[in-house]
Amino acid sequence: MNTVITKLLESVLNPATQKSIVKENRLVGIKELENGSVEVKYNRDNIPTLVKRELEDSMCKVLSAICSPDKLIIVSVSSEQEEIHLAAEKSRNAKESNGPKPQANIKVGHGSIGNKVRVAGVKKLLAVASGKGGVGKSTFSVNFSLALKQLGYKVGILDADIYGPSIPMLLNKREEKPLAGANKKILPVSSYGLKFISFGLFSGENDPVIWRGPMLGGVINQFLFDVDWGDLDFLILDLPPGTGDVQLSMVQNSEVDGAIVISTPQDVALLDAKKGLYMFRKVNVPVVGMVENMSYFICDQCDKKHYIFGDGGVEIAAKELGVSFLGGVPFNKDLRVGSDKGTPYMADLGNEGSDVWNAYMEIAKKVK
Ligand SMILES: Nc1ncnc2c1ncn2[C@@H]1O[C@H](COP(=O)(O)OP(=O)(O)OP(=O)(O)O)[C@@H](O)[C@H]1O
Ligand SMILES: [Mg+2]
Repeated sequence: MNTVITKLLESVLNPATQKSIVKENRLVGIKELENGSVEVKYNRDNIPTLVKRELEDSMCKVLSAICSPDKLIIVSVSSEQEEIHLAAEKSRNAKESNGPKPQANIKVGHGSIGNKVRVAGVKKLLAVASGKGGVGKSTFSVNFSLALKQLGYKVGILDADIYGPSIPMLLNKREEKPLAGANKKILPVSSYGLKFISFGLFSGENDPVIWRGPMLGGVINQFLFDVDWGDLDFLILDLPPGTGDVQLSMVQNSEVDGAIVISTPQDVALLDAKKGLYMFRKVNVPVVGMVENMSYFICDQCDKKHYIFGDGGVEIAAKELGVSFLGGVPFNKDLRVGSDKGTPYMADLGNEGSDVWNAYMEIAKKVK
Protein backbone atom coordinates (compact mmCIF):
# COMPACT_ATOMS: atom_id res chain seq x y z
CA MET A 1 0.00 0.00 0.00
CA ASN A 2 2.71 2.47 1.04
CA THR A 3 4.72 2.01 -2.14
CA VAL A 4 1.62 2.42 -4.30
CA ILE A 5 0.68 5.62 -2.48
CA THR A 6 4.20 7.00 -2.74
CA LYS A 7 4.25 6.17 -6.43
CA LEU A 8 0.93 7.93 -7.01
CA LEU A 9 2.00 10.97 -5.02
CA GLU A 10 5.09 11.35 -7.20
CA SER A 11 2.84 12.97 -9.76
CA VAL A 12 1.62 15.59 -7.27
CA LEU A 13 3.54 18.82 -7.71
CA ASN A 14 4.10 21.51 -5.15
CA PRO A 15 2.29 24.36 -6.97
CA ALA A 16 4.84 26.81 -5.60
CA THR A 17 7.92 25.07 -7.05
CA GLN A 18 6.41 22.75 -9.68
CA LYS A 19 8.46 19.93 -8.18
CA SER A 20 7.06 16.58 -7.04
CA ILE A 21 6.26 16.55 -3.33
CA VAL A 22 7.93 13.15 -3.10
CA LYS A 23 11.10 14.51 -4.71
CA GLU A 24 11.01 17.40 -2.26
CA ASN A 25 10.97 14.80 0.54
CA ARG A 26 7.73 16.14 1.92
CA LEU A 27 6.17 12.75 2.55
CA VAL A 28 6.50 12.11 6.28
CA GLY A 29 4.47 8.95 6.72
CA ILE A 30 1.71 6.73 5.43
CA LYS A 31 -0.36 4.78 7.90
CA GLU A 32 -3.31 2.44 7.55
CA LEU A 33 -5.64 3.06 10.48
CA GLU A 34 -7.75 0.47 12.32
CA ASN A 35 -11.00 1.78 10.85
CA GLY A 36 -9.76 1.21 7.30
CA SER A 37 -8.79 4.84 6.71
CA VAL A 38 -5.43 5.81 5.32
CA GLU A 39 -3.46 8.65 6.85
CA VAL A 40 -0.94 10.43 4.69
CA LYS A 41 1.31 12.83 6.54
CA TYR A 42 3.32 15.44 4.68
CA ASN A 43 5.48 18.42 5.51
CA ARG A 44 3.90 21.76 4.70
CA ASP A 45 6.94 23.97 5.40
CA ASN A 46 7.00 27.12 3.27
CA ILE A 47 3.74 26.27 1.54
CA PRO A 48 1.23 29.11 1.80
CA THR A 49 -2.30 28.27 2.96
CA LEU A 50 -3.99 28.73 -0.41
CA VAL A 51 -1.39 26.64 -2.17
CA LYS A 52 -1.70 24.05 0.56
CA ARG A 53 -5.38 23.59 -0.23
CA GLU A 54 -4.61 23.18 -3.89
CA LEU A 55 -1.91 20.68 -3.07
CA GLU A 56 -4.16 18.65 -0.77
CA ASP A 57 -6.88 18.64 -3.42
CA SER A 58 -4.40 17.18 -5.91
CA MET A 59 -3.32 14.56 -3.38
CA CYS A 60 -6.96 13.55 -2.83
CA LYS A 61 -7.59 13.40 -6.54
CA VAL A 62 -4.60 11.21 -7.28
CA LEU A 63 -5.25 8.89 -4.34
CA SER A 64 -8.94 8.50 -5.18
CA ALA A 65 -7.74 5.85 -7.64
CA ILE A 66 -7.05 3.48 -4.76
CA CYS A 67 -8.77 4.94 -1.72
CA SER A 68 -12.30 6.18 -1.21
CA PRO A 69 -12.12 9.91 -0.42
CA ASP A 70 -13.97 9.56 2.88
CA LYS A 71 -11.31 7.10 4.03
CA LEU A 72 -8.47 9.46 3.33
CA ILE A 73 -6.99 11.64 6.02
CA ILE A 74 -4.30 14.06 5.04
CA VAL A 75 -2.24 15.42 7.88
CA SER A 76 0.28 18.16 7.40
CA VAL A 77 3.12 18.82 9.78
CA SER A 78 5.33 21.81 10.08
CA SER A 79 8.84 21.58 11.44
CA GLU A 80 8.69 25.31 12.02
CA GLN A 81 5.85 24.97 14.48
CA GLU A 82 7.36 21.91 16.04
CA GLU A 83 10.49 23.93 16.63
CA ILE A 84 8.45 26.56 18.38
CA HIS A 85 7.06 23.88 20.59
CA LEU A 86 10.41 22.30 21.18
CA ALA A 87 11.71 25.66 22.24
CA ALA A 88 8.80 25.97 24.64
CA GLU A 89 9.54 22.49 25.91
CA LYS A 90 13.18 23.34 26.47
CA SER A 91 12.42 26.37 28.56
CA ARG A 92 9.83 24.43 30.54
CA ASN A 93 12.21 21.53 31.02
CA ALA A 94 14.70 23.93 32.45
CA LYS A 95 12.15 24.67 35.18
CA GLU A 96 10.61 21.23 35.72
CA SER A 97 12.56 18.31 34.40
CA ASN A 98 9.71 15.79 34.44
CA GLY A 99 6.98 17.97 32.95
CA PRO A 100 4.56 16.61 30.34
CA LYS A 101 5.61 16.63 26.70
CA PRO A 102 3.95 19.36 24.63
CA GLN A 103 1.70 18.30 21.81
CA ALA A 104 3.15 18.44 18.35
CA ASN A 105 1.71 21.13 16.19
CA ILE A 106 0.02 19.49 13.26
CA LYS A 107 -2.77 20.33 10.92
CA VAL A 108 -5.45 17.99 9.71
CA GLY A 109 -6.81 19.02 6.36
CA HIS A 110 -7.92 22.58 6.46
CA GLY A 111 -8.32 22.83 10.21
CA SER A 112 -5.47 23.33 12.59
CA ILE A 113 -4.68 21.05 15.47
CA GLY A 114 -2.39 21.59 18.38
CA ASN A 115 -2.92 25.30 18.81
CA LYS A 116 -6.04 25.10 20.89
CA VAL A 117 -8.23 28.12 20.47
CA ARG A 118 -11.12 29.21 22.66
CA VAL A 119 -14.45 29.84 21.00
CA ALA A 120 -15.13 33.53 21.51
CA GLY A 121 -18.02 34.30 23.85
CA VAL A 122 -18.42 30.68 24.98
CA LYS A 123 -17.77 30.16 28.67
CA LYS A 124 -17.76 26.34 28.65
CA LEU A 125 -17.37 23.99 25.72
CA LEU A 126 -18.48 20.47 26.63
CA ALA A 127 -18.27 17.42 24.37
CA VAL A 128 -20.84 14.63 24.59
CA ALA A 129 -19.29 11.37 23.45
CA SER A 130 -19.69 7.62 23.46
CA GLY A 131 -17.61 4.75 22.22
CA LYS A 132 -20.59 3.11 20.57
CA GLY A 133 -23.31 4.43 18.30
CA GLY A 134 -26.97 4.69 19.19
CA VAL A 135 -26.56 4.97 22.97
CA GLY A 136 -28.47 8.25 23.05
CA LYS A 137 -25.84 11.00 22.75
CA SER A 138 -27.94 13.30 20.60
CA THR A 139 -31.05 12.78 22.71
CA PHE A 140 -28.94 13.53 25.77
CA SER A 141 -27.30 16.59 24.20
CA VAL A 142 -30.67 18.16 23.45
CA ASN A 143 -32.43 17.38 26.72
CA PHE A 144 -29.40 18.14 28.86
CA SER A 145 -29.06 21.50 27.07
CA LEU A 146 -32.70 22.23 27.81
CA ALA A 147 -32.14 21.29 31.47
CA LEU A 148 -29.24 23.78 31.60
CA LYS A 149 -31.54 26.35 30.02
CA GLN A 150 -34.09 25.65 32.77
CA LEU A 151 -31.35 26.56 35.22
CA GLY A 152 -31.06 29.95 33.50
CA TYR A 153 -28.04 29.35 31.26
CA LYS A 154 -27.60 30.35 27.63
CA VAL A 155 -26.88 27.19 25.69
CA GLY A 156 -25.89 26.24 22.14
CA ILE A 157 -25.43 22.87 20.45
CA LEU A 158 -22.87 22.09 17.78
CA ASP A 159 -23.86 18.92 15.93
CA ALA A 160 -20.48 17.48 15.04
CA ASP A 161 -21.96 14.38 13.43
CA ILE A 162 -21.33 14.97 9.74
CA TYR A 163 -22.51 11.56 8.59
CA GLY A 164 -25.65 11.30 10.69
CA PRO A 165 -26.67 14.76 11.91
CA SER A 166 -29.76 14.42 14.05
CA ILE A 167 -30.07 17.72 15.93
CA PRO A 168 -32.22 19.45 13.23
CA MET A 169 -34.76 16.63 13.57
CA LEU A 170 -34.64 16.59 17.37
CA LEU A 171 -35.18 20.36 17.47
CA ASN A 172 -37.80 20.36 14.71
CA LYS A 173 -35.84 22.56 12.29
CA ARG A 174 -35.17 20.20 9.42
CA GLU A 175 -36.10 22.73 6.73
CA GLU A 176 -34.23 25.70 8.19
CA LYS A 177 -31.31 27.17 6.26
CA PRO A 178 -28.78 29.13 8.32
CA LEU A 179 -28.25 32.75 7.27
CA ALA A 180 -25.05 34.70 7.03
CA GLY A 181 -24.65 37.60 9.45
CA ALA A 182 -23.33 41.04 8.64
CA ASN A 183 -19.76 40.00 9.44
CA LYS A 184 -20.10 37.00 7.09
CA LYS A 185 -20.39 34.67 10.06
CA ILE A 186 -22.95 31.88 10.00
CA LEU A 187 -25.95 32.64 12.17
CA PRO A 188 -26.98 29.64 14.28
CA VAL A 189 -30.59 28.48 14.15
CA SER A 190 -32.71 28.93 17.29
CA SER A 191 -35.19 26.41 18.61
CA TYR A 192 -36.78 25.97 22.04
CA GLY A 193 -34.49 28.71 23.32
CA LEU A 194 -31.32 26.91 22.19
CA LYS A 195 -28.98 27.96 19.41
CA PHE A 196 -27.62 25.22 17.20
CA ILE A 197 -25.74 24.48 14.03
CA SER A 198 -25.58 21.22 12.12
CA PHE A 199 -24.24 19.93 8.84
CA GLY A 200 -27.78 18.65 8.28
CA LEU A 201 -28.90 22.25 7.78
CA PHE A 202 -26.55 22.68 4.84
CA SER A 203 -27.22 19.43 2.99
CA GLY A 204 -30.47 17.73 2.07
CA GLU A 205 -31.23 14.87 4.44
CA ASN A 206 -31.08 12.35 1.62
CA ASP A 207 -28.00 13.75 -0.07
CA PRO A 208 -25.18 11.25 0.10
CA VAL A 209 -22.46 12.66 2.29
CA ILE A 210 -19.32 11.83 0.43
CA TRP A 211 -17.10 13.92 2.54
CA ARG A 212 -13.39 13.96 2.36
CA GLY A 213 -11.51 13.11 5.50
CA PRO A 214 -9.47 16.32 5.31
CA MET A 215 -12.59 18.44 5.10
CA LEU A 216 -14.03 17.12 8.35
CA GLY A 217 -11.72 19.11 10.54
CA GLY A 218 -12.43 22.16 8.40
CA VAL A 219 -16.18 21.94 8.82
CA ILE A 220 -16.01 21.53 12.56
CA ASN A 221 -13.53 24.39 12.73
CA GLN A 222 -16.00 26.54 10.83
CA PHE A 223 -18.80 25.51 13.13
CA LEU A 224 -16.70 26.44 16.12
CA PHE A 225 -15.16 29.65 14.90
CA ASP A 226 -17.21 31.00 11.98
CA VAL A 227 -20.59 30.73 13.67
CA ASP A 228 -21.84 33.77 15.47
CA TRP A 229 -22.57 32.02 18.76
CA GLY A 230 -22.90 35.24 20.69
CA ASP A 231 -22.50 34.92 24.46
CA LEU A 232 -23.12 31.40 25.66
CA ASP A 233 -22.68 29.83 29.07
CA PHE A 234 -22.42 26.38 27.47
CA LEU A 235 -21.74 25.11 23.97
CA ILE A 236 -22.51 21.39 23.76
CA LEU A 237 -20.60 19.43 21.14
CA ASP A 238 -22.60 16.38 20.06
CA LEU A 239 -19.85 14.10 18.75
CA PRO A 240 -20.32 11.27 16.28
CA PRO A 241 -19.98 7.78 17.76
CA GLY A 242 -16.56 6.25 18.15
CA THR A 243 -13.15 7.11 19.41
CA GLY A 244 -11.25 7.32 16.15
CA ASP A 245 -9.14 10.00 14.57
CA VAL A 246 -12.10 12.05 13.45
CA GLN A 247 -13.33 12.43 17.01
CA LEU A 248 -9.82 13.18 18.19
CA SER A 249 -9.26 15.91 15.65
CA MET A 250 -12.53 17.51 16.68
CA VAL A 251 -11.64 17.85 20.30
CA GLN A 252 -8.08 18.88 19.58
CA ASN A 253 -8.93 21.99 17.61
CA SER A 254 -10.47 23.99 20.37
CA GLU A 255 -10.18 24.24 24.08
CA VAL A 256 -12.78 21.69 25.11
CA ASP A 257 -13.40 22.24 28.81
CA GLY A 258 -14.73 18.79 29.50
CA ALA A 259 -16.33 15.66 28.14
CA ILE A 260 -19.42 13.76 29.19
CA VAL A 261 -19.35 10.10 28.22
CA ILE A 262 -22.68 8.40 27.64
CA SER A 263 -23.12 4.69 27.96
CA THR A 264 -25.88 2.15 28.24
CA PRO A 265 -25.49 -0.37 31.03
CA GLN A 266 -24.58 -3.29 28.77
CA ASP A 267 -21.06 -4.58 29.10
CA VAL A 268 -20.11 -4.15 25.47
CA ALA A 269 -21.14 -0.53 25.46
CA LEU A 270 -19.18 -0.05 28.66
CA LEU A 271 -16.03 -1.35 27.11
CA ASP A 272 -16.52 1.16 24.35
CA ALA A 273 -17.16 3.90 26.88
CA LYS A 274 -13.80 3.12 28.46
CA LYS A 275 -12.17 3.69 25.09
CA GLY A 276 -13.91 7.06 25.02
CA LEU A 277 -12.43 7.95 28.38
CA TYR A 278 -8.94 6.96 27.30
CA MET A 279 -9.28 9.07 24.17
CA PHE A 280 -10.05 12.19 26.20
CA ARG A 281 -7.23 11.47 28.60
CA LYS A 282 -4.87 11.16 25.65
CA VAL A 283 -5.76 14.66 24.49
CA ASN A 284 -5.86 16.11 28.01
CA VAL A 285 -9.57 16.88 28.00
CA PRO A 286 -10.96 16.40 31.52
CA VAL A 287 -13.85 13.95 31.73
CA VAL A 288 -16.67 15.67 33.60
CA GLY A 289 -18.32 12.32 34.21
CA MET A 290 -20.28 9.39 32.88
CA VAL A 291 -24.02 9.17 32.30
CA GLU A 292 -25.96 5.95 32.12
CA ASN A 293 -28.67 6.19 29.48
CA MET A 294 -31.62 3.82 29.27
CA SER A 295 -30.78 2.86 32.86
CA TYR A 296 -34.08 1.28 33.71
CA PHE A 297 -37.63 1.00 32.48
CA ILE A 298 -40.63 1.94 34.57
CA CYS A 299 -43.54 -0.34 33.76
CA ASP A 300 -46.96 1.31 33.20
CA GLN A 301 -48.69 -1.56 34.95
CA CYS A 302 -46.64 -2.11 38.09
CA ASP A 303 -44.80 1.24 38.37
CA LYS A 304 -41.61 -0.59 39.30
CA LYS A 305 -38.14 0.10 37.95
CA HIS A 306 -36.91 -2.72 35.72
CA TYR A 307 -33.17 -2.81 35.15
CA ILE A 308 -33.24 -4.53 31.79
CA PHE A 309 -29.50 -4.27 31.17
CA GLY A 310 -28.46 -4.76 34.79
CA ASP A 311 -28.33 -2.37 37.70
CA GLY A 312 -25.66 0.28 38.25
CA GLY A 313 -23.14 -0.90 35.66
CA VAL A 314 -22.01 2.53 34.56
CA GLU A 315 -21.74 3.82 38.12
CA ILE A 316 -19.47 0.91 39.02
CA ALA A 317 -17.40 1.46 35.87
CA ALA A 318 -17.11 5.18 36.60
CA LYS A 319 -15.79 4.37 40.06
CA GLU A 320 -13.29 1.90 38.64
CA LEU A 321 -12.13 4.43 36.09
CA GLY A 322 -11.88 7.21 38.64
CA VAL A 323 -14.42 9.56 37.08
CA SER A 324 -17.66 11.01 38.44
CA PHE A 325 -20.95 9.33 37.84
CA LEU A 326 -23.39 12.05 36.85
CA GLY A 327 -26.58 10.01 36.92
CA GLY A 328 -28.84 7.71 34.98
CA VAL A 329 -31.65 8.57 32.54
CA PRO A 330 -34.43 5.98 32.45
CA PHE A 331 -35.68 4.31 29.32
CA ASN A 332 -38.81 6.23 28.46
CA LYS A 333 -41.21 6.00 25.56
CA ASP A 334 -42.27 9.66 25.65
CA LEU A 335 -38.62 10.66 25.40
CA ARG A 336 -38.23 8.65 22.20
CA VAL A 337 -41.56 9.74 20.71
CA GLY A 338 -40.83 13.40 21.51
CA SER A 339 -37.43 13.05 19.82
CA ASP A 340 -38.95 11.60 16.67
CA LYS A 341 -41.53 14.39 16.50
CA GLY A 342 -39.07 17.19 17.20
CA THR A 343 -40.69 18.04 20.53
CA PRO A 344 -37.96 17.37 23.09
CA TYR A 345 -39.05 15.97 26.41
CA MET A 346 -37.37 18.68 28.45
CA ALA A 347 -39.03 21.44 26.42
CA ASP A 348 -42.45 20.34 27.63
CA LEU A 349 -43.10 21.85 31.06
CA GLY A 350 -45.91 19.32 31.50
CA ASN A 351 -43.19 16.74 32.16
CA GLU A 352 -41.79 18.66 35.13
CA GLY A 353 -41.28 16.44 38.17
CA SER A 354 -41.20 13.14 36.26
CA ASP A 355 -38.34 10.66 36.74
CA VAL A 356 -36.81 11.57 33.40
CA TRP A 357 -37.15 15.31 34.08
CA ASN A 358 -35.54 15.00 37.48
CA ALA A 359 -32.74 12.84 36.09
CA TYR A 360 -31.78 15.48 33.51
CA MET A 361 -32.07 18.33 36.02
CA GLU A 362 -29.84 16.52 38.52
CA ILE A 363 -27.19 15.91 35.89
CA ALA A 364 -27.37 19.55 34.75
CA LYS A 365 -26.96 20.77 38.34
CA LYS A 366 -23.90 18.56 38.80
CA VAL A 367 -22.27 19.77 35.61
CA LYS A 368 -22.90 23.50 35.98
N1 LIG B 1 -33.59 7.33 27.59
C1 LIG B 1 -34.15 6.92 26.45
N2 LIG B 1 -35.34 6.30 26.45
C2 LIG B 1 -35.90 5.85 25.29
N3 LIG B 1 -35.36 6.02 24.08
C3 LIG B 1 -34.17 6.65 24.02
C4 LIG B 1 -33.52 7.15 25.19
N4 LIG B 1 -32.36 7.75 24.80
C5 LIG B 1 -32.32 7.64 23.46
N5 LIG B 1 -33.39 6.99 22.99
C6 LIG B 1 -33.68 6.62 21.59
O1 LIG B 1 -32.60 5.84 21.13
C7 LIG B 1 -32.33 6.11 19.76
C8 LIG B 1 -30.86 6.53 19.60
O2 LIG B 1 -30.69 7.76 20.28
P1 LIG B 1 -29.71 8.90 19.72
O3 LIG B 1 -29.94 9.17 18.28
O4 LIG B 1 -29.78 10.02 20.68
O5 LIG B 1 -28.33 8.13 19.90
P2 LIG B 1 -26.87 8.57 19.44
O6 LIG B 1 -25.92 8.00 20.43
O7 LIG B 1 -26.83 10.03 19.21
O8 LIG B 1 -26.76 7.82 18.07
P3 LIG B 1 -25.60 7.99 16.97
O9 LIG B 1 -24.46 7.23 17.51
O10 LIG B 1 -26.21 7.37 15.75
O11 LIG B 1 -25.33 9.45 16.86
C9 LIG B 1 -33.33 7.19 19.34
O12 LIG B 1 -34.43 6.58 18.74
C10 LIG B 1 -33.75 7.84 20.68
O13 LIG B 1 -35.06 8.39 20.62
MG1 LIG C 1 -26.21 11.15 17.50
